[in-house]
Amino acid sequence: MKEDVMSKKKSLLIVFSYHHKNTEKIANVIAGVLEAQIKTPQQVNPEELQEYDLIGFGSGIYSENLHKSIHELVDKIPQVINKKAVIFSTSAIAEKNSNHKKLRKKLQSKGYEIIDEFNCRGFNTNSFMKFFGGMNKGRPNDKDLKHAEEFAQNLLKK
Ligand SMILES: Cc1cc2nc3c(=O)[nH]c(=O)nc-3n(C[C@H](O)[C@H](O)[C@H](O)COP(=O)(O)O)c2cc1C
Repeated sequence: MKEDVMSKKKSLLIVFSYHHKNTEKIANVIAGVLEAQIKTPQQVNPEELQEYDLIGFGSGIYSENLHKSIHELVDKIPQVINKKAVIFSTSAIAEKNSNHKKLRKKLQSKGYEIIDEFNCRGFNTNSFMKFFGGMNKGRPNDKDLKHAEEFAQNLLKK
């Protein structure tokens, strides 16, 4: 019953995923569970975020941070009261969400409550890794996608 109520809440995922579309795969699973729309930061009008009950911010990790287009958008969004957000990412090295720190702080300073975070490994051919066939080949894999689904199911209860 509670799940039915929460699933009717309006959710949006703002995603920047370019290296191998790794984070996009995770976003698609989360969006399926939450019945959320997915937009790039460039497609979002900062004012429209007021319409949503839950906003997910996701990207690959680039230089130990979410993509700068996500940060640039968050810099422009208005202060909110009582809005929920989640952060999700894929990265070469799984760092228990430590690469979310800057974005987390920024969102909290705008008034968002970060109700959960998700990270898993993603295929990486950055820099010299391309000479070795890359690292984390096949990630996110079925297990990662399953974890993303569980993460999203859990959000319905929050
Ligand atoms: C320019 C660049 C910088 C990266 N920096 C990091 C990093 O600091 N830490 C890390 O764990 N992975 C790093 N990676 C690997 C990506 O986070 C990883 O491949 C991610 O899954 C890419 O997501 P995407 O396909 O959604 O863009 C980097 C990749 C690129 C291309």
